[in-house]
Amino acid sequence: MPNSKLIDQYNRHLNYLRVSITDSCNLQCMYCVPQDLLTRLSHEEILTYEEILRIVTVAIRLGVTKVRVTGGEPLVRKDVYDFLAELAQIPGLSDVSLTTNGVFLKDNIEKIRSAGISRINISLDTLSREKFQKITGRDAFDQVWQGIEMAQSMGFAPIKLNIVALNGVNDDELEDMARLSFSFPFHIRFIEYMPIGQSRMGNGPLLLVPEIKKRISGLGNLLPVQNSKNDGPAKRYQFEGAEGEIGFIPALSQHFCDKCNRLRLTASGQLRPCLLSDYQEDVKGPLRSGCSDQEVAQIFLKAVHHKPSDHNLAGHNVIRVCGEMRAIGG
Ligand code: 5AD
Repeated sequence: MPNSKLIDQYNRHLNYLRVSITDSCNLQCMYCVPQDLLTRLSHEEILTYEEILRIVTVAIRLGVTKVRVTGGEPLVRKDVYDFLAELAQIPGLSDVSLTTNGVFLKDNIEKIRSAGISRINISLDTLSREKFQKITGRDAFDQVWQGIEMAQSMGFAPIKLNIVALNGVNDDELEDMARLSFSFPFHIRFIEYMPIGQSRMGNGPLLLVPEIKKRISGLGNLLPVQNSKNDGPAKRYQFEGAEGEIGFIPALSQHFCDKCNRLRLTASGQLRPCLLSDYQEDVKGPLRSGCSDQEVAQIFLKAVHHKPSDHNLAGHNVIRVCGEMRAIGG
C-alpha cells in the first residue's frame, strides 16, 4: 500500500473510510433505533458536504482509497446525489460505495449510477412484507424489492443484501434469504447483531454465525470463495451451482479486528477508529475554528494511533456501545 500514513500500533493499514452523512432515517429498525426518545442532530451539528469533502481529501492524502457513504439513511439527505458525484470525482479513490435501506432506490437509481457509484449494499432483513413493516415500522418491502431488481437490471454489481440475524424475528427465514443466491447474483450477507446504542432489542440469546451456517446447510454444499483485496470482514461462500454468494459477518463470535482497515467519520464530524468503542476524535470543531489541512491530518494520525487492538463484545459481560449506529454509520 504505497503512501499509507494511516498505520496503527498493530500494523494495520487503514485505507477505508466510512462516512455517515446523516443520522436521519426514514425507517425505524428495531435493532437500530433507540427505545427511548429519539434525539436527532440539529442541522448545524451535521458536517456540511464541503466539510466532508475536505476531510475525505485529507484522508486520501494519508492513504485512504475506499469510501463508503452511509447513515442513517444517506438518501434522505438533501442534494445527496450531487454530493456523491463530487465525492466519486476526488482523485485517489479507487472505490466509492453506498449503504442504503433501499426505500428511495427505485426512483433514484439512475442518479446514483451517474454519480459514479457502482457498488451498493442494501439492508434487507426479511422477505415478508408484514415482517418488514414489523422490523422497520414502514410498509415498504415492495418498494425496496423493486429498487433491488432495478439496480440489478442496471448492472450494479455486486449488490450486497445485509441481513441482521435476529432470534425470534427473522431466524425462520434464513434459508429463504440464502436461497436467493441461487436465482440472483446477489451477495447475501448474514450479520450478527451487535449491541450498539439503546436499541429495542432485549438481551436475549444472540444468533451467531455457526448457528446460521447450520440452519442454511440443507441448501447445499457451501464452498469458500477466495477473498479479494477489496473484501471487508465478510467470510465469502457460494452454494454449488448458485449465481450469487453467501457472506457471514461474525462481528461477535469471531471478530475480525486483526484485519480491520476502517475508520469512521460520524455525521457530527467525529472520527471513530473502532465501531465498537466510544473513543473518538473531534474533527468538526477544529475544522470550524479554521484549522489547516495539516491539522486535520494530525487528528487522523491521533485517532489511528488510538485504534483499539480489538473490541471486547464477544465476552459474556457484554457492554453496550453508547453511540447510536445511525450516527456512527454502519
Ligand atoms: N448490529 C448489526 N448490524 C447492524 N446494522 C445496523 N445496526 C446493526 C446492529 N446493531 C446493519 C444494517 C446495515 C449495516 C450497515 O449495518 O443492517 O445494513
